[in-house]
Amino acid sequence: MNLLSTLTRSAFSFGGSATMASAQVSERASYEHEAVQEAVRQAKITLNPHGKTRFQNMGYWTDGTTTFDDAAIALTRVVAEAAEFCDGDRILDVGCGFGDQDFVWIEEHSPERLVAVDINPAHIEVARETARDRNLSDQLEFRVASAVDLSSLEETFDKVVSLEAAHEFMTREAFFSEAYRVLSSGGRLVTTDLLPLPGRKVQHFTIHPANNYSRIVYAEKLWQAGFVNVKIQSLRELVLKPFEKYMETLVHARGLAGKWWTFKRRRLNSQVDYVLAIADKPVTSAIPEMHCPMGPF
Ligand SMILES: C[S@@+](CC[C@H](N)C(=O)[O-])C[C@H]1O[C@@H](n2cnc3c(N)ncnc32)[C@H](O)[C@@H]1O
Repeated sequence: MNLLSTLTRSAFSFGGSATMASAQVSERASYEHEAVQEAVRQAKITLNPHGKTRFQNMGYWTDGTTTFDDAAIALTRVVAEAAEFCDGDRILDVGCGFGDQDFVWIEEHSPERLVAVDINPAHIEVARETARDRNLSDQLEFRVASAVDLSSLEETFDKVVSLEAAHEFMTREAFFSEAYRVLSSGGRLVTTDLLPLPGRKVQHFTIHPANNYSRIVYAEKLWQAGFVNVKIQSLRELVLKPFEKYMETLVHARGLAGKWWTFKRRRLNSQVDYVLAIADKPVTSAIPEMHCPMGPF
């Protein structure tokens, strides 16, 4: 749960096409600038005051999960399994936060390369420091970049993943296009994401208004970006509900995450979904199909 999302967001209203493009770019730039400033101000906030990691997601709480650390690590494994991480993969993690999931993936898989990007320089600085401390700077590269403009990356990837971040991007749809572009033929995109349940109209405070659509539209947008084999699965029972209980134990976070509590008081969480989305870039005929030794998710 990123507190940069507590920012006020303006509505979209644009005129003609050239003006529209530049207005959109400058609105995006100012939104992203504000978001980073807010996140820097809130840098000391943690969802995990008693644990070891600085994950900013809700975690995956199966039976017997008692700590936030374990739940958040379990969520990284759900993503790794869905992405079918293989030895030698080139992986891009978008909206990496402090990079905790990247350290798990490096430890549990053997990617050839893992590049992790976030728009917030404060997050990237901490992630880089941790990588240096653990002597992982050669395998793991942290960079400041926006999910909707990955042009600074001059390489392609076998897997693009994004853990609970795409709902904040302006827009998620623009990210889908960028992810498609930087994926190699036959590559895979995996996200976990926050959105309204089908048929509900709730505006969750962490979801950018432009991304406020259900998993049905989500799948359509992935198809429109060119992806195939689109699968979207709701994880809300094992993510949202137990996370809400966990939040109740974080007395100190009440003042910090006031919007969360207002939202909870109004019982709006019952209208929010949490999904795992998997989508493949089609294989182009000149390149052999990617083979992964792990089974399907
Ligand atoms: C809820 S946090 C999740 C962080 C991390 N994936 C985790 O699970 O701990 C969302 C992250 O997305 C980043 N973010 C928001 N908008 C972004 C954008 N346009 N491009 C890249 N990162 C962005 C935020 O800075 C934040 O680190």
